Amino acid sequence: MSALDLKDVRKVYGDGDQKVVALDNVSLSVADNEMLFIMGPSGSGKTTLLTVAGGLLQATSGSVVVGGTDISGFDGRELAAFRRDRIGFVFQAVNLVPFLTARENLLLVRQFGGGKIDTDARDRADSLLTDLGLADRAGNLPSQLSGGQQQRVAIGRALMNEPPLVLVDEPTSSLDSELGQQVMELLTKEIKSRGLAAVVVTHDDRILDFADRIVQIVDGKLTSDSSDNSSASPSGR
Ligand SMILES: Nc1ncnc2c1ncn2[C@@H]1O[C@H](COP(=O)(O)OP(=O)(O)O)[C@@H](O)[C@H]1O
Ligand SMILES: [Mg+2]
Repeated sequence: MSALDLKDVRKVYGDGDQKVVALDNVSLSVADNEMLFIMGPSGSGKTTLLTVAGGLLQATSGSVVVGGTDISGFDGRELAAFRRDRIGFVFQAVNLVPFLTARENLLLVRQFGGGKIDTDARDRADSLLTDLGLADRAGNLPSQLSGGQQQRVAIGRALMNEPPLVLVDEPTSSLDSELGQQVMELLTKEIKSRGLAAVVVTHDDRILDFADRIVQIVDGKLTSDSSDNSSASPSGR
């Protein structure tokens, strides 16, 4: 079974003169435990692809299957529950809740998932924050954290409910090179050690070493050429 299967997915925004074909018959499979990168210029459809794959937006046509479940026909309520339990999002606008601490931002998603904020949840939040190098920042508000630290809290939040599929939009776009490498190292370690699958979209070619596989998107179309990057990885992942 694969973590994600897109088949002939089209997404068209607007109509008439305003019509934009953002995804043009995209088909894509992501294996369990695979870290897939999607590269493409601005406006090529990367964010649209993630929002459709994650059930935040309905495709115009085609099918979206996540971990064996076809979510194409789901209604809003079914989608919300599915997203909460099965998908982790790390999106560009980090969207931490501003009046909650780093730890509380993680615990909140456990609560959304219907779980209790018990010792288990607290231990998990604390161990994630420790793994992400934020142990001493757990009690800080987002406004008291740097951009890189906020990005790491967002990663912790996405992993809190152990979703089998994690979708990541331009994780390094607001970070300098060194911080970008650090955030990607942490993200990769968390994903790999938990056996999760991830789709990372980016136009940052400084982080491509972290990919198991890279596909290109141009004008809403994936190029058929997809390279296996596993032997090229300098850190031997
Ligand atoms: N909500 C929207 N309404 C209309 N057009 C949109 C909307 N979101 C994105 N688009 C258009 O769809 C195309 C793909 O956008 P997007 O997926 O954001 O690309 P990327 O993330 O690669 O920059 C662009 O032409 C963009 O202008
Ligand atoms: Mg985008």
